[in-house]
Amino acid sequence: MNTTELANLNEKYGIHDQLTFSEGPGGIIIAAIRNPHGEATVALHGGHILSFKPRDHDPVLWLSQKSQFKTGKAIRGGIPVCWPWFADHPTDIDKPAHGFVRTAVWSVIESERLADDSIRLKLSIADSEDTKKLWPHRFKLEIDITVSDVLRIKLNATNIDDKPFTYGGALHSYFSISSIASIIINGLEGCAYLDKVDQGRRKVQEGAISFKQETDRIYLDTTADCIIEDSDIPRRIRISKKGSRTTVVWNPWIAKAGKMKDFGDDEYKRMVCVETTNADADVISLAPGDTHTLESTIRVEPWTRNND
Ligand code: BG6
Repeated sequence: MNTTELANLNEKYGIHDQLTFSEGPGGIIIAAIRNPHGEATVALHGGHILSFKPRDHDPVLWLSQKSQFKTGKAIRGGIPVCWPWFADHPTDIDKPAHGFVRTAVWSVIESERLADDSIRLKLSIADSEDTKKLWPHRFKLEIDITVSDVLRIKLNATNIDDKPFTYGGALHSYFSISSIASIIINGLEGCAYLDKVDQGRRKVQEGAISFKQETDRIYLDTTADCIIEDSDIPRRIRISKKGSRTTVVWNPWIAKAGKMKDFGDDEYKRMVCVETTNADADVISLAPGDTHTLESTIRVEPWTRNND
């Protein structure tokens, strides 16, 4: 990595004691944010939030011990940005799963300290000759991250082409939990979903979600908050969203974890993904000049036995 690039980033976007850029594993550049309310780290590789911790709380996001940090590889954990398609490409299985921006290097375009001491950091990525080989459209994508005791993420996609395009994607958030056997997720009761571990069959969620096996579900037509109830820590993680009518819930369990090189064999016990998604019928069509925002807000709330 180029030390001049790092010095330039710190000079232009660094905020004394609260936002600094340094070299991370594999030479990737990492922004470390710290303020009186919380802290977070963000990799320019993928525009990827690696960690978030409100003050006086445990880390909220999960990051695999086995994650690779190298060119062309997605980081395992944190919040990968999946775009401009979710999961496999709809017609070409040879194209990278979850799109191409999670493995590309993003640029810093803005940073600021807000009146309440929150820190805001904005990164962007645009089309290039490489992206056009995978997706033939001109676009601008920005991730706008605000860190306080709450983590707010806005993913703004703009069509800078002269014809419309349609895309999908996700803020593929991995959460740190005490144990997959003891958490439940509330918020999706009564919601229809496609069960990816049962040939994509359409089912309806009865009651809260609990985990006893590999779980990979696309919840349809929902704008609901999801709440991870973790009585052992104890805490609740509330995930709220805008610009998304799809929520994906994923845990690979034992066999699938065993097949992934960047995922420890036992790590499935300590993580769950609740993904703020645009997928299936909920893909976004943008006319030239238009912007769509996918937004996710993550906060920790006290856990109470009565769930109120
Ligand atoms: C989830 C998908 O969003 O991401 C799963 O629903 C997939 O099917 C998982 O296995 C991880 O994907 P990847 O490409 O990061 O291994």
